[in-house]
Amino acid sequence: MEPNSTSWGVHFWCLTVQELAKKPLSKVPTRYVRPHHGPPAISSLSPAMTEVQVPVIDMQRLASKDSCNHELKKLHLARKDWGFFQMINHGVSCSLLDKVKEETQEFFKLPMEEKNKFWQDVGDIQGFGQAFVVSQEQKLDCADMFYLITLPRHMRKANLFPNLPLPFRDTLEAYSREMKCIALTTLVFIAKASKMEVEDMKVLFDEGMQTMRMNYYPPCPQPEQVIGLSPHSDPLRITFLLQINEVEGLQIKKDGSWVPIKPLHDAFIVNIGDSLEILTNRMYKSIEHRATVNSKKKRLSIAIFLGPKCDGDLGPAPSLITADTPPRFRRVSVADFLRNFFSKELKSKTNLEQ
Ligand code: OGA
Ligand code: NI
Repeated sequence: MEPNSTSWGVHFWCLTVQELAKKPLSKVPTRYVRPHHGPPAISSLSPAMTEVQVPVIDMQRLASKDSCNHELKKLHLARKDWGFFQMINHGVSCSLLDKVKEETQEFFKLPMEEKNKFWQDVGDIQGFGQAFVVSQEQKLDCADMFYLITLPRHMRKANLFPNLPLPFRDTLEAYSREMKCIALTTLVFIAKASKMEVEDMKVLFDEGMQTMRMNYYPPCPQPEQVIGLSPHSDPLRITFLLQINEVEGLQIKKDGSWVPIKPLHDAFIVNIGDSLEILTNRMYKSIEHRATVNSKKKRLSIAIFLGPKCDGDLGPAPSLITADTPPRFRRVSVADFLRNFFSKELKSKTNLEQ
């Protein structure tokens, strides 16, 4: 039986695309089909574009006196020309990454009764569910997500983090702690690479926000008809994406084409978010990206977003403002900026432009 789009729409809220994908479907339900926005086949990109690789930044070289300047220049160009890079030698142990990968996969295998306990409340995006769904007519992304605020601790949702099953809860706690350190170190290097006063970067960072988004992209019988995650730029300052299993799907927009990213083993794919584009007064740009789905294999990823503190302001760094480089953004409160982002459909860079 092929359900109509309305019943799938209803199912969607209490099932998941993961459950949906278990059904013997040969066609994708219409709510997910995007006839005009379907991803162009990779083969339609110019051959040169399918072979390029985003820059690789070695954190050990950044930290070493001898190679720091060379790596800083690479970082500057990576940010300026790509907005994305892969980070290696980042210092997070393989054993922790293995646990994150394994236990995230286990978490998505929980039966629906268990998942329901972590379901999004009305008006909140934390928990299992979807974000950016604002109307019944809107097309849906072909992915499930589990989203939660991890830092600062007092912003954690009371019934979410503390109720996560063990050992997953402890693993996420350790991962959150490690990633906070790495993110702050990276941002200091980015400040140096952009010749910004490090204080301008740091000032918004005490009590900065950290959120995690785990993405589950099920296999889909017609991958070219759907999108896993709509094109968007990330709103916060910096994102560290870890691919959980060895299935690719992330694509970034480069010179008008979608370029697939091939993650190196255990590397983080790092990209700057809108609030860093604002802080660097557009020297570094947040880059649009999206996720595609695979016809045979599921794909999982976990993104950590680091942001400014919630009760702060967003605006260009004073040390980057000169007579030649006047401010290109008006100051806004972080709260307003995020409220606007989460209240709309996920779409390109519309929030930043506003
Ligand atoms: C995100 C994101 C891409 C991916 O979660 O913001 O862009 O490959 N994810 O899952
Ligand atoms: Ni993203």
